[in-house]
Amino acid sequence: MRMYDIIKNKRDGLTLSSEEIAFFVRGFTDGSIPDYQASALMMAIYFNGMEERETFDLTMMMTDSGDRVDLSKIKGITADKHSTGGVGDKTSLIIAPICAACGVRMAKMSGRGLGHTGGTIDKLESIPGYKTTVDPQDFVDIVNKIGLSIIGQSGDLAPADKLLYAQRDVTATVDSIPLIASSIMSKKLAAGAECIMLDVKTGSGAFMKTTDAARELAKAMIAIGRRAGRKMAALITDMDVPLGRCIGNALEVIEAVDVLKGNGRSDLVEICLALSAGILEQSLNLSEEDSLAAARRALEDGSAYDRFLDMVKAHGGDLSFIKDTSKFRLSPHTREITALKEGYISRIDTEKCGLASLLTGAGRSSKSDSIDFGAGIRLHKTYGESLKKGEPYATLYAGSQDKLDAAEKMLQSAVTISETPPPQKTLIIDRL
Ligand code: URA
Repeated sequence: MRMYDIIKNKRDGLTLSSEEIAFFVRGFTDGSIPDYQASALMMAIYFNGMEERETFDLTMMMTDSGDRVDLSKIKGITADKHSTGGVGDKTSLIIAPICAACGVRMAKMSGRGLGHTGGTIDKLESIPGYKTTVDPQDFVDIVNKIGLSIIGQSGDLAPADKLLYAQRDVTATVDSIPLIASSIMSKKLAAGAECIMLDVKTGSGAFMKTTDAARELAKAMIAIGRRAGRKMAALITDMDVPLGRCIGNALEVIEAVDVLKGNGRSDLVEICLALSAGILEQSLNLSEEDSLAAARRALEDGSAYDRFLDMVKAHGGDLSFIKDTSKFRLSPHTREITALKEGYISRIDTEKCGLASLLTGAGRSSKSDSIDFGAGIRLHKTYGESLKKGEPYATLYAGSQDKLDAAEKMLQSAVTISETPPPQKTLIIDRL
């Protein structure tokens, strides 16, 4: 078999065999296939796509290129949730305890933030003492004991995807549905959960800018997961405005704890309940109605909050910060951002909003950057709400005045104020 022929076949619109895909993934991972041939194949896939079977084969080869997390010692059904990334997305911190309180085992590996999007692991590390690195046996023991654990990625999951993603990143081949779907699912399958709930975001702050593209990606990921024997479901949700009111690590933990204590804002609560219900429906075989009712009950009776406390304790975190979130130390320099004119917030460019948060110090531009857990943005007003000229609509928190200057400029450019109220937005766009 020659790599040249595999590239030529895909270039000419043919379907690649399982053997050809295996030959490519193995050869690229062991270094025998050079970068330039991998790039050529990625570009051919970008233009000609892949059939469902090809995408599945690519995913499984990448999954099998590294470690698999063994969750077989966990008693009960295991579930995981994946979001395609957003701004202000703290839903994992709320959904995992809700589902655990309802009897599902949430064994979750999460990532760090990069660029304009945040990551659950950074958020958890803003809780003093919380350890996101635990050895695999402790991870299993914690889930068996309290029903949930969220940790950073451990082991060498899907190394072939890591190599291929780096290649795609510099060859303009990231935004291809089969390549994104196989990349995400290779890691999710290696992470081991039986049930996988996908939150595919669409809009200005999302990877997928249109609803059609988000739906297509969700369908491709569901097809891969089902072929691999996992229970799958997805929501398509709006990321055209930041989720909730807080962006930044400690700020988002505070907002998540507010939801768990029953004081959350309706948009954030709605999306967390819908995603939790999706997990309960798949993993416990409940009806849509019963799943939603169970998730709501876990939030309202405080059992989800108790599970969150259990998780923080099991990971060495200081519970006093959760019980009294005013103990979180936010960054020392603050600035109120005021409306330049009267009207309604008719657009928030969510990617720019995420970049403004990054400029406060809450995010990282490259993987090695350190972050300021206390930095970020608290929005006092959001999409559709009215403002008077000079009224503060956000507070920025940062470690220096220079950071505030840069973040303010970015945030002001993200927000559009119009004379008339904008149309209402639907947060949950589709269920698959
Ligand atoms: N996230 C991933 O893990 N892979 C992609 O290809 C895109 C987003």
